[in-house]
Amino acid sequence: MLPNYTSYKNLPPLAGLCTLEEAAKPGLSVEECVRRLKRFHYCFKRLHQILMARITAEPIYELKTGFAHHAYLCAEHATALRARIGEMREPPLGLDEVPHPALEAFFDEILAAPTTEELVKGYHRGLSYLSEDIDSYQRETNPLTDAPSRRVLKFARLELDEMFEFIRAAKAAFPASESDWHIVLHSLVIQAGGIDGTIPEDEKPYPLPRLYSTKPYVYDPIPKRDERFSDPWNQGVNAESFLYNEAYPARAKALMMLYKRLREIDVPEMMARIITQTPGKPWGYYRDMSRQLWDEARHAMMGEVGFFALGVDWTKAKITLNWSHRLNTECTPMEAHGVLYYIEQGLMPRTGKRYEFETGQASGLPLIATFQDFDWADEVLHSQIGREWYVPQFGNLKEALAYGDAAWSKVLSNWATVKEKGLTQHENWWPAVYEMACRAEGVPPDPAVLAFRETYEGKRADLKDVGEGLSG
Ligand SMILES: [Fe+2]
Ligand SMILES: [Fe+2]
Repeated sequence: MLPNYTSYKNLPPLAGLCTLEEAAKPGLSVEECVRRLKRFHYCFKRLHQILMARITAEPIYELKTGFAHHAYLCAEHATALRARIGEMREPPLGLDEVPHPALEAFFDEILAAPTTEELVKGYHRGLSYLSEDIDSYQRETNPLTDAPSRRVLKFARLELDEMFEFIRAAKAAFPASESDWHIVLHSLVIQAGGIDGTIPEDEKPYPLPRLYSTKPYVYDPIPKRDERFSDPWNQGVNAESFLYNEAYPARAKALMMLYKRLREIDVPEMMARIITQTPGKPWGYYRDMSRQLWDEARHAMMGEVGFFALGVDWTKAKITLNWSHRLNTECTPMEAHGVLYYIEQGLMPRTGKRYEFETGQASGLPLIATFQDFDWADEVLHSQIGREWYVPQFGNLKEALAYGDAAWSKVLSNWATVKEKGLTQHENWWPAVYEMACRAEGVPPDPAVLAFRETYEGKRADLKDVGEGLSG
């Protein structure tokens, strides 16, 4: 029987963690907590891997950017759990071990889901099982003794709810056809003893049921887009030529910068491929690269928002996938990383992020200035990430840059090839988009801006120029 105890002067007891009654239950042992936390860590790591692997070939723009976001969140929660497990008398950590073969098969199945619909369905299941078992942990562990774990998981749960809401909507938009796959997924979780391993294991283990993952998963590096990207090989408008030409007004340049931002959707497509096809790095590599990838997805969405704010239909600007497609098919992951680093370092003052920010300010559109302000800040972070994870693979910075430059030189202009193949006519979409912006603003188009005709035709620089606006 607990003594009748009221708090001193009505102050919350136990630093506001919980009531005395709640803390007076024994809860879980350190060993049990570590065992479960390792499983949660494994789940976040696998979800991160799955989402990352599916970004490039996922055509739906909202899902591509959504996966970029969720992959980053999963990487952050895996990172927090690693740190927490390391605080619990756990060397060696064994964080690369698979907690149970059935749990491994469960995530293998989702990774190998053959369509967007099935992927969304499997991912939705994964999130819901994980959330339920984190909730059990939060109820069962002692809120005083294990306050640090509960804090880590509290944040994880907040974001899991948001992820779940997103994927619930995706599931409604892309319903999977009826199949027995959910039974396979459910059986695997049961065989694993639940996500957290608290269900007693079957005495006689039966073979793992697999549907989609009977053969090893093969990564698809080919970027895909939905129907709103109607002319993805178009290189008909040289955004950089316009942007760095002093003759043109800042407001029209702001519109062109929004095109450059939206075009950055190709950076997640190429970074997801680097991350997926570069195994064996320390965990920090995957966390940092996932952050950068998510930033690039945000830069693309800034472009989308800018078009919306200016009353322009962004689908009329032809957003190309030429760059990510070519890096993913013609360069190794290491070479692609080299190209990315080279671009991000190659920002001359004339064409750099400061210039874009100042152009945003000069445009008289505060939203564009905000976008470029944060884009610039993100870019400084990306340089640091490159210095930490790319450059040390070389003797010095010069070699690291030369490697990226050489890799880029391999990728020659394909202007004529894509035209000959009938993939695009390199249509000049700029006048239509510019006129739309002028109409929305209620001003007449500037004839000089309207007459802009420069393209990416016929020089190696076409890709260099495309790149310079991308991540850099
Ligand atoms: Fe960027
Ligand atoms: Fe960047």
